[in-house]
Amino acid sequence: MVNESVYNELMKKYRAHYGRDPEVIAYAPGRIEVLGNHTDYNEGFVFSAAINYGTFFAASKSASKACRLVAGDLMKEVAFDVTGIEASKTDTWQNYVKGTLAGLAGVKAVPCGFDGLFLGNIPLGSGLSSSAALEMCTGLALGKLYGITVDDVTLAKIGQKAEHMYAGCKCGLLDQISSLAGQAGRLVKTDFRTVAYETVEMGEAACFLMCNTHAKHALVDGAYNTRREACEQAAAHFAKELRHPVTALRDVSMAEWAIYKRGLSDTVANRAAHPIGEDERVLKGAELLAKGDLPGFGLLMFDSHESSRVLFENSCEELDAVVDAAKKIPGVLGARLSGGGFGGSVVVLVHPRDAETASIALANAYAAKFGKPCDVSVIKPAAGAHIVK
Ligand code: GLA
Repeated sequence: MVNESVYNELMKKYRAHYGRDPEVIAYAPGRIEVLGNHTDYNEGFVFSAAINYGTFFAASKSASKACRLVAGDLMKEVAFDVTGIEASKTDTWQNYVKGTLAGLAGVKAVPCGFDGLFLGNIPLGSGLSSSAALEMCTGLALGKLYGITVDDVTLAKIGQKAEHMYAGCKCGLLDQISSLAGQAGRLVKTDFRTVAYETVEMGEAACFLMCNTHAKHALVDGAYNTRREACEQAAAHFAKELRHPVTALRDVSMAEWAIYKRGLSDTVANRAAHPIGEDERVLKGAELLAKGDLPGFGLLMFDSHESSRVLFENSCEELDAVVDAAKKIPGVLGARLSGGGFGGSVVVLVHPRDAETASIALANAYAAKFGKPCDVSVIKPAAGAHIVK
């Protein structure tokens, strides 16, 4: 079983806290975003993968409408009622669970409360989507507990709504879909217009390193939302200028952007160029992967980061330093920021035989600049969310 030691600890803590075994347990992994940045809410394309770090959610029905929820790392309990699920300003981790519960309750009435506990090993705030993992394992576990069956896309949308309504981030569907759809050794390629996804073999010649800088810059969610607004403003402009229908930036090519951007501010035009270019890179990357051209795919990752840095301005000094260092390390094929940006992690594509030396070189290069190393871990594309018990 993946992350068996976390599972064993969860069981021990659940028994100690509630004095019985949980009726259901579900698991959901975090994700890396490999190519296609801020394209999901622009109805574009992304390569991502579920990772070998994740979160377990264990629950049993309670005898009333009362819910008890424990964050297993802190062993802190909060209580609320299924009949009045409201966002909380304290212990905000509960909001991801509450938002997901509210979404399930919108599908079918929830008959009673639950005694729940969750525990995982995804580093928080690292850009590996620990919050989506929590939503997806909550959704699977409580769905099973209450007999509420939903398909993957509906569950992903429930998680996304939890982020929008309960956490204030107007995210797309990438994190939730990746957590649900991942498969061992494979990338997930998603078209976010139709939310159709397929998995693509990664091959033995590739693995990923995740370099967590621990950088977290102010106004993270605010900056995410303003980037999204700029993209929507640009899409509305191109809808007026182009002669074919434009409902999202997905419908605009780089060539059209160059001709028809007049009338947009430089900033908004640059913001729009990022997801448009990313869509083209994902489609090109799919062709390269099909031919087994990992070095070519890696170069697209470097281009993606440069586009983030210059056009979308969602990078930062720490992430740039990792990518710059990666470019000089033998065996590294590509590197880019992963996820929302403004801090968090860089994902690095490397041949498995070079993973260890590249990890040491990256940590050292970072330490030379910032006084302490970034955390580097080897990431294996892993199975998606599932019921464990
Ligand atoms: C965050 C969001 C996703 C996606 C990425 C950027 O992870 O939650 O929906 O927009 O940023 O690609």
